[in-house]
Amino acid sequence: MSFLQPRPGGTYLDGTLGGGGHTALIAAECATGNGVVIGIDQDQEALAAAGNRLARFGGTIRLVHGNFAELDRHLDMLAVTTLDGFILDLGVSSHQLDSGARGFSFQQDAPLDMRMDTGCDGTAADLVNTLPEQELERIIREYGEERWARRIASFIVKARTGQAILTTLQLTDIIKGAIPRAKWEERLHPATRTFQALRIAVNHELERLETGLRAAINRLKPGGRGVVISFHSLEDRIVKHIFREYASGCICPRQLPVCVCGRKPQVRVLTGRPAMATEAEVNHNPRARSAKLRAVEKQ
Ligand SMILES: C[S@@+](CC[C@H](N)C(=O)[O-])C[C@H]1O[C@@H](n2cnc3c(N)ncnc32)[C@H](O)[C@@H]1O
Repeated sequence: MSFLQPRPGGTYLDGTLGGGGHTALIAAECATGNGVVIGIDQDQEALAAAGNRLARFGGTIRLVHGNFAELDRHLDMLAVTTLDGFILDLGVSSHQLDSGARGFSFQQDAPLDMRMDTGCDGTAADLVNTLPEQELERIIREYGEERWARRIASFIVKARTGQAILTTLQLTDIIKGAIPRAKWEERLHPATRTFQALRIAVNHELERLETGLRAAINRLKPGGRGVVISFHSLEDRIVKHIFREYASGCICPRQLPVCVCGRKPQVRVLTGRPAMATEAEVNHNPRARSAKLRAVEKQ
């Protein structure tokens, strides 16, 4: 909130509504003077739960089911042209992780789904049962930063020739078999990285971040602020690069000795290094451990 600085009467976007925690904090600040918070989530369960929690704010809150990658369409539908601020708190919610039935957790048996928007096509089971081995390996290596990606992909392909891989625990057992026991990390379940990789692929998280973040920055009013919290180094890299690009303005190829595009800086970066949770916050909420926050102000 100290980066976003929500003000009475302002129009704010929470592109990742989740349980509505951020939206509630913003609404408490902007509700006076007819302020508005637009809360978007692609998960119908999140919207329903947050809707109940946020009912006390009445018309201050507008809830939208959809993807923040389609921000322009959602804002146009609401006749909102510009924003005083936005926040994106990326990835999966604690609710999604903890409700075993959605297939995000390797600790509870469930259909291998992992879609945040259950109305979209393409579950994790579809990916593990149909993708070519090399593509599976790439996804697990790139999105999971998993050094055993090749072996895991090969074990998956061998296993699926006998019988389709349909549940989280089936996949967990295959991954455990692929990583030699002696190489398991002490404090990380062997399936963590592969599950994370599949989740990112199923939900097209990186592509959608890039599209949505650009749209959100473009909609900011001068002086408006944008805040992004990421939990994955690839996400943080995308945020850093987009913020840098908007801060420098120029998009000329590096080889050119002088700028010919003439574009001016559009934002000021407020976080040289990303802000991270304090030790006290991590003790209280261990999932904040890997969170990195970056913020900009529109010029
Ligand atoms: C980390 S949680 C957000 C928690 C929230 N800040 C709170 O205070 O409770 C991320 C949420 O964003 C949603 N989400 C992730 N990517 C999204 C996207 N591209 N478009 C819309 N919602 C998305 C997820 O479904 C999930 O509910």
